Parts: sequence; C-alpha cells; structure tokens
Amino acid sequence: PPSPSKIPRWPSNLCKGCRALIKKVRDRYSKPWKRQEDNYKSLSSQLRSQCHGFDGAIITQENSPLGSKILYDSEKNMTLQVIPEIFSTFAKENLFKNKTWDKCAVVGNSGILSHSSCGEMIDSAQFVIRCNLPSLAKLHEKDVGIKTDIVTANPSIIRTKFGDLTRHHRQFVESLHIYGKSLLLLPAFSFGFNTGVSLRTVYATEDFGSPIRPVFFNPEYFRRLTLFWRSRGQRKAFLSTGFKMVNLALENCANVHLYGFWPFSIHPFELNALNNHYFDKIKANWRHHAMPHEFDLWLRLHNQGVLRLHLGHCP
Ligand code: CDP
Repeated sequence: PPSPSKIPRWPSNLCKGCRALIKKVRDRYSKPWKRQEDNYKSLSSQLRSQCHGFDGAIITQENSPLGSKILYDSEKNMTLQVIPEIFSTFAKENLFKNKTWDKCAVVGNSGILSHSSCGEMIDSAQFVIRCNLPSLAKLHEKDVGIKTDIVTANPSIIRTKFGDLTRHHRQFVESLHIYGKSLLLLPAFSFGFNTGVSLRTVYATEDFGSPIRPVFFNPEYFRRLTLFWRSRGQRKAFLSTGFKMVNLALENCANVHLYGFWPFSIHPFELNALNNHYFDKIKANWRHHAMPHEFDLWLRLHNQGVLRLHLGHCP
C-alpha cells in the first residue's frame, strides 16, 4: 500500500458500503505479512484429505474408466456414460501425481492488475495458474506476465469468440499459442452444453498439433469443494473459477500468491474506478457469483499467513 501521505481523497460518488470495505482491506492488508506454517499445513492437509484435488481434480482414464458414469455438477441428475469415443479424450493418468511446487501464482482477472507492474513477480513463480483464457498481449505483459502452466477455459468464452467450434478451428488453435505447453482445464461436465465444445477443443488442438494439453475438470472435485466450504460457512455454492484454482494451488503448492483477485469497482488504495477485467470493459454479472464473499475468505487467509494476497502495485 502507498504511504499514508500519498493516499488520495475519498471520491464524492463512492459506492454504498465501499468506504467501509476499503477501510477494512487497508487495515488488514497494511499489517506486515507473515507466513504461519501451522495454519497453512492445517488447511492444506484438510483440503487434500477431503477434496482430493491432488489426485481427483481432473478426469483421467484411471478415475473414470470405460463404462463408468459421470455425474454433472451444475445440471440436476444429468449423467454421461463413458463410451470409447469420450474415454479416448481423457488424460491417461493423474497429472499432479508426486508433483508439488514451492511457489505458485494464481492470477485472477480483476482490473486491479492494470498498471500494477506485477508481471515480473508473477512470472518468477515456479507454477503459474491463469483463468478463462485471459489476454496475455504485449500491452499487458508488464502487469500480468506471460508464464502459464495452467489456464482454464470457460466454454462460454469459446462459444462467444469462436462460434462453439462448429466450423473452422485454425483461428481458435492459433489463439492458444500464447499459453504454450500449458494444461488447458475445461469444465466439460458442469453443464450439458459444455461437453460438445470441450470435446471439439480436444479434437481441434490435436488436429493442428497444438502443444497445449486440454483436460477436463472432474465434477466430483467441485462437489467435494462445495461441501468443504459450505461446512465452513461459505454459503454461496457457485464457486468461481478463481476460487477453484486457489484451492487446487493450496493442495499442491507450498507458497500460494494471489494476483488479480479484487471483485470491486474501485481501487483500494488509489480510489480510481476499475474494470472487472484487466483486458476488457465488459461489466460484471455479480448475480452468478459469490466473488465478494470469496474475497473475504482470501483476506482472512492472508491475515492467517496461509496465502499471500497481492493488491495494488508490485515492488
Ligand atoms: O468465469 P469467472 O466469471 O468466474 O471469472 P473471470 O471473470 O474470468 O475471472 C477469473 C477469476 O478471477 C474469477 O473466477 C475470480 O475468482 C477472479 N476475479 C476477481 O477476483 N475479481 C474480478 N474483478 C474479476 C475476477
């Protein structure tokens, strides 16, 4: 945070509740951050033993054999039988087996990243997770970096930008080059309409020899995660993409750093208006999300020394 003498005046048109929120954030965030090993170990081991993201966050040929049924997580009672054509698109085995990382950066898409100069810090992490095919254009590199080990893709983005992949695929596959050899995580079995486009993503990347590796989220993992946080008071059940990725990181990474998690329309220190995303001006649809509640949790975990939240400028 900037020194108190540099904190700007409160704008006159400040949104309802924003002053209290920002004061709380400034107060908690201004205390020097200290890692608390016991707190981290306790949450990480509970997540491992109850949510099994480590060996079950991704659909594999091991955990979803031929003939088994996959139960969708956002579509009541909807199942899909694993037939050979679908089975062949699954990852062969657990991709996180015996893999842990010392330092992970989980990058949300908040407009708070604009002019943050956090790119270098993000790229210095051993493992970088990004959400929903974000822009990594040269223009944003200083603020968000470029390194990507995991990137998620919400099929609605593919649908909007590339017409559901029912026609030509080259342009889509070329748009993925920026993410290199990363894992492309798709929620293929959340809603029924996600499945076709997710399968076509696998075919398209294979046909064009793309180095990116598409894999499917396991809806079982989302159910376990929902139960886990519901039993700890997180009442809103629709967990955002970023929320899922932070939880995955907490199981697999010794040091978890969060960037771009700020679901509010005003900067906490500079008090200027912010876009929902650092790369576009599309307005947020908060009705579908519990992001402000999720943010509250990140702030608590930051204070408990479990993970490190980065707001504002990076040194
Ligand atoms: O698909 P979804 O709407 O969940 O996410 P997004 O807008 O593409 O952003 C990716 C993630 O960044 C979200 O899931 C949130 O966890 C986080 N985010 C945030 O904390 N604040 C924002 N203003 C925007 C996104």
